[in-house]
Amino acid sequence: MTKKLFIKSFGCQMNVYDSERMAEVLAPLGYGRADDSADANMVVLNTCHIREKAAEKVYSELGRLALIKDERAAAGRPMVIAVAGCVAQAEGEEILRRADCVDVVIGPQAYHRLPELVARVARGGGAVLDTDFPTEPKFDHLPQGRTARGVSAFLSVQEGCDKFCTFCVVPYTRGAEYSRPVDQVVAEARQLVEGGAREIVLLGQNVNAYHGDKDGKTWGLGQLIRRLADLDGLARLRYTTSHPLDMDDDLIAAHGEVPALMPYLHLPVQSGSDQILAAMNRRHGIDAYHRVIDRLRASRPDLAVSGDFIVGFPGESDDDFAATLAVIATLGYAQAYSFKYSPRPGTPGAELPDQVPENVKSARLEALQSLLRAQQNAFNAASVGQVLPVLFERTGRHPGQLVGRSPYMQAVHAIAPGAAIGDIVDLRLVEAQANSLAGEPVEPGWAELERTVA
Ligand code: 5AD
Ligand code: SF4
Repeated sequence: MTKKLFIKSFGCQMNVYDSERMAEVLAPLGYGRADDSADANMVVLNTCHIREKAAEKVYSELGRLALIKDERAAAGRPMVIAVAGCVAQAEGEEILRRADCVDVVIGPQAYHRLPELVARVARGGGAVLDTDFPTEPKFDHLPQGRTARGVSAFLSVQEGCDKFCTFCVVPYTRGAEYSRPVDQVVAEARQLVEGGAREIVLLGQNVNAYHGDKDGKTWGLGQLIRRLADLDGLARLRYTTSHPLDMDDDLIAAHGEVPALMPYLHLPVQSGSDQILAAMNRRHGIDAYHRVIDRLRASRPDLAVSGDFIVGFPGESDDDFAATLAVIATLGYAQAYSFKYSPRPGTPGAELPDQVPENVKSARLEALQSLLRAQQNAFNAASVGQVLPVLFERTGRHPGQLVGRSPYMQAVHAIAPGAAIGDIVDLRLVEAQANSLAGEPVEPGWAELERTVA
């Protein structure tokens, strides 16, 4: 590798996956990964447009990069700057107008064409832009070989969204829903496992809407999960992120029947008020959400639930907000993300009357987050004393320490002599700390015995 590539990902896990694939696309051009933008010949910002704050971060990052690019140019070391991802898709030309240091603007559906664009820049034709939605799926054009970068690997199986929630830019930036064929997904999963992955996280903007082709038939996510669970060496499966309406019977049953499918589910509801859910075009009421969670918990009683919440959607009254708090209080979340509503250009929500004042949004977010924090703490505190299998993913801060995840996505650290990254070790959780739990190895066989007695 003669040239250095630095990729910075903003936003969701889908972008993390896309960044890895962009690095793979650029490797044949001689690009290896750099740890820092200052020593990179090429910098890619893989951007997020979901909220205004996320989009603005890109411009401040570009301001910083422009200085580095100038310094390098003065020293005779040129640098190519590319903006990829959802801001590229949504703002296109605008990026080139606002930041003249940018050489390439490339949307999420076009990054298999990155080498061609970089070559054009190298020929000196000026900045290039590609935000097309090619008719042929990009996945068919990406390099076939995958190597896992860690013990837990992301795998995009679905992209885009047809739901058109009125707050959301995704249907515009990522386009219509597309599911990758089953065989392509299985082949990529196999490569990841051969490369050392023990856990695969299936990704999609609306992943449980997955409907991939398998020999002329359509498979849902439940079927795909059952197939992947058969892969030798693959210990754990997760998927994110889902829409309540797409939780079908087979997927719900898979939660009870497939041991590799971890008992943790990110299933956003956004609001607890029927009126707001209707205004958001979520296409279901709050009762339907409760019923889905009930069915999931009947299938997998220890399922830990996570979610997303938006406060201050236009028209949200005190009562609407109280309904959201009530849902949280009733269901109990192991973890959740919450945001102030951010009007996004081009989405129907941005045009609605009764936008909620900033100070009201802030107060509601604070109240909501303090409830969620209390629930997360309670969830972690309740784990203390339990023995859980932890998949070690990396070394910790202290000598000999390893850090991994419990089935419920809790970060757990432990000194486990003889254990290595990639091992799944039964740990007794002994203490809940601010962002993680401390664990201790138990005698082999002990966890099994304890489970039998329980
Ligand atoms: N404002 C605030 N939050 C948003 N999200 C999506 N769009 C917006 C917006 N305009 C949140 C939703 C979604 C998560 C990925 O981001 O909660 O589930
Ligand atoms: Fe956006 Fe998710 Fe709604 Fe699709 S389902 S429009 S991705 S929030």
